[in-house]
This record gives sequence, structure tokens and C-alpha cells, in this order.
Amino acid sequence: MDTAPELPYDQRPANRDLGHLQGEYGWPFVGKTLAMFQDPQSLFGHYYEKYGPVSRISITGNKCVLLLHPDHVQRVLMDREKNFSTKMGWQSVMADFFQGGLVMRDYDEHRLHRGIMQSSFKPPAMREYATKIQAIVETTVARWADQDSILFYEEMKRLLLDIAFDVFCWVEDSERTVPKINRAFTDMMEGALGIVRFDVPGFQYHRGLEGRRYLKAFFMDLVDKKRASDDQDVFAHFCREKTEDGEYYADEDIADHMVFLMLAAHDTTTSASTMAAYYLSNETALQDELAAEVRAWPDELSFETVFHSVNPLIGVFYETIRMHPPVPLLLRRTIRESEIGGVRVPADTMVCIPSNYIHRLPDWWNDPDSFDPSRFSEEVAEHRKHNFMWIPFGGGAHKCIGMHFARMLFLLTFRELIGKYRIEYVEDGYFPAKLQHFPFTRPLDGLPVRLVPR
Ligand code: HEM
Repeated sequence: MDTAPELPYDQRPANRDLGHLQGEYGWPFVGKTLAMFQDPQSLFGHYYEKYGPVSRISITGNKCVLLLHPDHVQRVLMDREKNFSTKMGWQSVMADFFQGGLVMRDYDEHRLHRGIMQSSFKPPAMREYATKIQAIVETTVARWADQDSILFYEEMKRLLLDIAFDVFCWVEDSERTVPKINRAFTDMMEGALGIVRFDVPGFQYHRGLEGRRYLKAFFMDLVDKKRASDDQDVFAHFCREKTEDGEYYADEDIADHMVFLMLAAHDTTTSASTMAAYYLSNETALQDELAAEVRAWPDELSFETVFHSVNPLIGVFYETIRMHPPVPLLLRRTIRESEIGGVRVPADTMVCIPSNYIHRLPDWWNDPDSFDPSRFSEEVAEHRKHNFMWIPFGGGAHKCIGMHFARMLFLLTFRELIGKYRIEYVEDGYFPAKLQHFPFTRPLDGLPVRLVPR
């Protein structure tokens, strides 16, 4: 009897039969997605208490195995068995916007493509970016301080766009080009977050895809020019990078990676910075302590300070992204049947790791819902109890390539802010504000604050 050859794992439909696991799916179609948007901690807390570390849930249109234990996180992210596809995890939610990006590639192909980005994040390149970022941050923060008040979230987004065009892709004739690129980029980001996903004119999603197409064409057209230039932006580094065989990477791949990189870099850092400002504005004494600390730093920060040491300002960054990880869910899909925590997980099953609850697991974190940067100090180092209980940047082969960049950006921005000003809410009694949790956490009203000179 003839049997049809089995399809490759990336062409098979997802398994939706998880009836043998404990858990609940929720409403037809939407499952628990709305509950997750409203209050992710309560939702995942309920699953943890009722069903333990492995259960079934339906979110983002997928029936998933929900994992709530650092051991299981480690197993999936380290993926020693090559059984947890990152590409198939993200495919069902972000395929149109992430296409060609690093998370849409698995194993050997992923390793090869990660090579395109490697040199852009090495120390000499990072030093160049630091100088550029510092200059932009200084003028921008001074402009913020000139205003009676600012919406921190909106201003931070704009600052990061300015940085993106200077550091990621510097262009001549920027006055003419940058506004168009900004529009396309903003459309793409808004489209990627759209709930109604129709590629039909009039829909936000369609505008997003048009933005993506425009940006990709923009980068493709520039590859040869950048390759021949001695520009030191991230894009120019990508263009000049070569494969192990000494060949340049394909133009199309470079353009896809640029588009993905800009998406991956932007909202994540905007959310982290906004939430840090939100907590700091509530803690004047902590701001004063931090100000004393950063004012004692030399103008030119050492490599160690920027990238490695855990200083009190970095404690604030780490604690902010513990409480509100900018990538709140990590998604994977099994390739073969396997077993996690004693539970059988069939092939082609979506696996969901909610970092926003792993970071608050009551059995691992002390008083998990309170903002306490000192838990990251050398003396306490609570996150070191398990290598996979604090995973804002993921882990394993797909660990965030921009992690050091994000840290540098945070340090340079907040050194300027905290060292020279006190950040204050515009409204008395503002804290705790109403937060939006998805897709990125931020105060719903964009965080109105003023900067008061020290
Ligand atoms: C606070 C800021 C950031 C956070 C919390 C963050 C978080 C993450 C996480 C969790 C992943 C892994 C996704 C997965 O395993 O499925 C990731 C991947 C990635 N991030 Fe970030 N990110 C941040 C900033 C940045 C920045 C600034 C850049 C670029 C400069 C960047 C570029 C990337 C890229 C290219 C990947 C894909 C890596 C791969 O698949 O090999 N990220 N990020």
C-alpha cells in the first residue's frame, strides 16, 4: 500500500487536540485572549494555581501548551533535541510582518543568517553607536525639559525613531527621505499590532503591509551603495558582512533582516523606558540616589559600565523588564511528539511561555508584584536561583541579539534624564495608573510627566 510521504514540519497544520491535558480553552475562537489582554498576571496565575506548571490554553487563535516552570522554559529555549521550532511558533501570529526575520528561521538556516548581524553588535561598532546615541539623547532630553510637560511614551517613541535613522540606517538627503520612511515604519508597527488582519485597503493591517513593502524596497535599493560606502550604521555593517564562503549575503535577505530588526528594536525599548519612567516617577528617593550615582560617572562611560556591570540604574532596567517584559510571550511549536514535565505533547503543538508570569512565579520570586530593583543587586541577585526564571531577552539560539544595545540605550537615556532632572507625574496621585498590557505595556494615557531641573 502506498503511503503519502510525510510533509515537512513547516508545512503541516498545527495540532489542536490537547484534550488529555488539564486546563481550559475559554470562549470559541478568542479563547482566553481577551482575558490575557486585560490582566495577564491574573490569568496565568489562575492556571498556575489550578493546573500547575503544564496545562492547555487557547490564546492568540492557537491551542497551546502553557509552560510555567523555569525547568520547562530551559528545556524549550535551549532546545537540545531540536524539537521546538521558533519559526512555526511565530508563524501563526506574525508571519506577514516578520517574514525573512531571524525568528522566522530555524536551526542551521538561522545560524547562517544570524551571522549577517553579528559584526553590527560587536564592541567597536557599539562604541560608535554609543557616541551617536549620546548626542541625540542630550539634545532631545533638553527639548523635553523646555516643555511644561510631555507624554513620555510618545516622545520616547520619537526619540527611538531618530536614533533608528542615525544608528541603524543613516541616509543622505535625510530631510526628504526620513519623513516617508517614518510614515512607512509607523504604519508597519501599527499594522503589525492590528487585531483585524485583512490585507484589504482601508484596514490598518493593510497599511502596515504596504509600509513593510515600501521599507523593504527602500533597503533593497540601497544595498549596493551602502556596501561601497564606509558608513558605520547597522545597515552598512549588514551589507558588508560575508558568509563563511566569503560571499555577500543576498540583498533580499539583508532587506528582510533590516525590516525585522527595526520592528524588534523599537517598541520593546519604548515600552521598557516608559515603564521605567513610570515607576521612577513614583519613587523620588530612588531617583535622588540614582542621580548621585550617575553624576559620579565619568562623561565617557567604560565598556564595563555600559555592557556588563550591574549598577543600580541597570537594576531599574532589569526590574522593569521583569515586571513588564516587552516580549511578553515566547512561542514555539513542536516538531515531534515529546514529553514535558511528565505530560505528552504531540507533534506540531504550539507551546507558549508567558515571560510576564514566569517573572512573577510565586514559588521563585519574593513579593513578585512589587517593584524592587535591589533584587538584582550583587548581594541579593534573586534572579540567579535559576538561569531561566528571568528571561526578558529569551534564551538559547534566538536570544535577543540587541540585548546589549537595549541596555546601552537605557543607560544613556536615563543617565541624562535622572542625572539632570527629576521626573514627576503631572497629576498628583497618578500612581497606580491604568496600564495597557498588550502588545506592549504602557500607561494607557501615555504617561504625562514633567522634567524638573536638579
Ligand atoms: C528591552 C528591549 C528588548 C527586549 C526585552 C527584547 C526581547 C527579545 C526577545 C525575548 C527575543 C527572543 C524571541 C524568541 O526567542 O522567540 C528577541 C529577539 C530578537 N531581538 Fe530583541 N529585545 C529588545 C531589544 C532589541 C533591540 C534594541 C534589537 C536590535 C537592536 C533587538 C533585536 C532582536 C533580534 C534581531 C531578535 C531575533 C534574534 C534571533 O532570532 O536570533 N531586540 N528580543
